Amino acid sequence: MLNKRSIVFILFVLVLFTYVLALAEVDHQYVGASKCKLCHKMEKYGDQWSVWESSLHAKAFETLATEKAKENAKKHGIDDPQKSEKCLKCHVTAYEAPSEAKADSYTMEDGVQCEECHGPGSDYKSMKVMKDREASLAAGLVIPDEQTCLQCHIPEGNDFFVEFDYETFWEKIKHTRPPEE
Ligand code: HEC
Ligand code: HEC
Ligand code: HEC
Ligand code: HEC
Repeated sequence: MLNKRSIVFILFVLVLFTYVLALAEVDHQYVGASKCKLCHKMEKYGDQWSVWESSLHAKAFETLATEKAKENAKKHGIDDPQKSEKCLKCHVTAYEAPSEAKADSYTMEDGVQCEECHGPGSDYKSMKVMKDREASLAAGLVIPDEQTCLQCHIPEGNDFFVEFDYETFWEKIKHTRPPEE
């Protein structure tokens, strides 16, 4: 027969095991857009930062504090859209990721950020890795395409839906590297 002690011990091992499994599932952490700014605000790399900063993606969390957002939320029985999963899942990056997957520097106030499309950056953001394209991809860097956009630019749950066309939408947020010399 199992005594009380061994039952407690078995439970302890089970809990520990689940915890370790949960940790192992988090490959890379979200570090937040401010970490990419360091290099990607520089002209010599193409200043993708400024394009993003002036785009609606950077304001997507703030948008949820507007009267328009609150009115819309009310129709769905939501008090504060800045606290509701129903709105945040598209208006900020990594809302649904577990907290272990977010570094201290990550903040949802920055809305839809670089890592939404390029993947969590903790392991590729160092200069050594970034300069090596293969290494960056191996460390979690994502080269996005239309499918990336279609996680959010769909009518379900979005009462303000605008028909999505990749070419015209990409044109509005286009950020490229400087041309080769
Ligand atoms: C320490 C500097 C540095 C930081 C920090 C940094 N990068 Fe980079 N990144 C670079 C350099 C250098 C390149 C290569 C640029 C080139 O070849 O023109 C690059 C290239 C890229 C590319 C292009 C990859 C390709 O081959 O098409 C993407 C996308 C990118 N970075 C995203 C990010 C994101 C997102 C972050 C923040 C999580 C970030 N970077 C942080 C320096 C940095
Ligand atoms: C995490 C969800 C998410 C993803 C992924 C995403 N977007 Fe968005 N996008 C939004 C939200 C939310 C807004 C509205 C922000 C606001 O108005 O505050 C928006 C707005 C835009 C706008 C501005 C539309 C306008 O009326 O001017 C463009 C352009 C855009 N996105 C392009 C893209 C493209 C291109 C991709 C893929 C490469 C993409 N988005 C991926 C959530 C997303
Ligand atoms: C499926 C993703 C998604 C969800 C869920 C979502 N939104 Fe949005 N929202 C967007 C996108 C994308 C845009 C930009 C318009 C477009 O291109 O469809 C947007 C735009 C907006 C705008 C700006 C509209 C304008 O014309 O100025 C407001 C306000 C807004 N959303 C509020 C909300 C609120 C409140 C919720 C929750 C009840 C919510 N959204 C849920 C994706 C989403
Ligand atoms: C809404 C999605 C989205 C967001 C947000 C976003 N990017 Fe991109 N990014 C893309 C797409 C799409 C491409 C083009 C990929 C391709 O086809 O080469 C791209 C390309 C790049 C490139 C390579 C440019 C080139 O000419 O090869 C760099 C560098 C880059 N992004 C950095 C960033 C940084 C830094 C941020 C945040 C400040 C950011 N991106 C935010 C979608 C996004």
